[in-house]
Amino acid sequence: MENTSNNHSAPIPVDPDGGKLSGVRGQILTFKADPFLHDEKECYDYYADGLVVVQDGVILDVGDYAEVQARYPGLDDVEHHEDAVIMPGFVDAHVHYVQSPMIGSFGDSLLSWLNQYTFPTESKFCDKAFADKVACIFFKEILEQGTTTANVFSTTFAESVDALFEESERYNARTITGKVLQDRNLPDSLRDPDTRESIVIAERLLRKWHHRGRQLYAVIPRFAPTSTPEQLQLAGELYQRYKDQGVYMHTHLDEVQSEIDWVTQLFPEIPNYTEVYRHFGLVDRMSVFAHCCIVRPEEWQILHDADCGIVHCPSSNLFLGDGEFKFWEAKEESRPVRTGMGTDVGGGTNFSILRQVGEAYKVGMLQQRGLSPVRSLYLATRGGAETLHLEHTIGSIAPGYEADMAVIDLKPSYFAAWRLQFSDDIISKLFVLTTLGLNNLNKATYVAGRKVYDRSRERKWLYAADLEK
Ligand code: GUN
Ligand code: ZN
Repeated sequence: MENTSNNHSAPIPVDPDGGKLSGVRGQILTFKADPFLHDEKECYDYYADGLVVVQDGVILDVGDYAEVQARYPGLDDVEHHEDAVIMPGFVDAHVHYVQSPMIGSFGDSLLSWLNQYTFPTESKFCDKAFADKVACIFFKEILEQGTTTANVFSTTFAESVDALFEESERYNARTITGKVLQDRNLPDSLRDPDTRESIVIAERLLRKWHHRGRQLYAVIPRFAPTSTPEQLQLAGELYQRYKDQGVYMHTHLDEVQSEIDWVTQLFPEIPNYTEVYRHFGLVDRMSVFAHCCIVRPEEWQILHDADCGIVHCPSSNLFLGDGEFKFWEAKEESRPVRTGMGTDVGGGTNFSILRQVGEAYKVGMLQQRGLSPVRSLYLATRGGAETLHLEHTIGSIAPGYEADMAVIDLKPSYFAAWRLQFSDDIISKLFVLTTLGLNNLNKATYVAGRKVYDRSRERKWLYAADLEK
């Protein structure tokens, strides 16, 4: 066993009024600190034969199987996952569920790809039945990949927001989304027709969904070029009114040079892209910025000072030919920035956060910087939770955390199982699996303690709205 932090020794009194206990047994890997800033070995716990005890959706205890089991003599509901490693559920810190229908479209650079595929597809989400169906499929996809928390772009229409939160609620998943605010430079079919009304609708949705169960709301201006200064101003005011209640601001930043040039043209008085958002009150503690590939030093400083989160989306950046994310800039010791991983589907080409870290390694290597496996597995889990300021709630397997877990198969294929016998430790094995880029690495997914996905079960997904024809 490497690095145990759990020092319980006496039997733990079980709350007689609490719900039934259940256990999940297997190898366990979980992160407790940022390996970009601390010695890697101090940042994770690994149990070769571990046990997680769950009560009422929350982790009650975790540690070596024999030790933990002895503390719960009556615990009989234990599921044992052999040849697998239990990890915290993955965090997809930037994804567009509304782009699921156009993932993988042959394209072009970002701005023409948006016009050609993205905007026409998102226009369809004024239809609630269509939105419901895509939300259902989206949750199936992410849960299949072991993602339990997603920070999601819906689109202009309230229907698109309701559809996603409703499906998330069925699973009791922790999901963040909101209405996308966009009132210029896009087709009429997708554009907010009335700027003031767009904010009224966003606030109504916020009041409906924020902290309803595990759901959380984000104020989402798509990016600076698709909002008028008036809409950015009103979005900033809305965010400032609610940020202390944990409402997010989510947008795109510094993805590709043509986008940055456009922002400079639109806001010639403002010195850089991050300052544009700051000017309108959109840079603050709960702000999350996707991409951040081409960032000036003064912008990194603003992001650090405000304690924002940023999201690396490597498969999307490669697919769209954006810029190259620089993790050593993001995690510069004198001004580190909270960083997580995102699929950015439909720019991203799959829903797997483990495959994203495989791509992140290659993006680093293009710049002669290898991203270590410990760092990438942290980014996939706790890093994402930190990006969302949820690191005390999700992203780790530890007492008091919500019981969201993925079960990674160490024998996902005949060849992979054969290959892994030549790697000694769990970190090297997981690195090989992320590098092979397989799509079937996850065996089972627990959300708030319930096994909502199990690939060996006849009904693989529990709770999915029954909409598929
Ligand atoms: N910038 C503004 N909108 C988008 C989008 O939908 N995808 C990506 N990758 N970048 C964007
Ligand atoms: Zn995006």
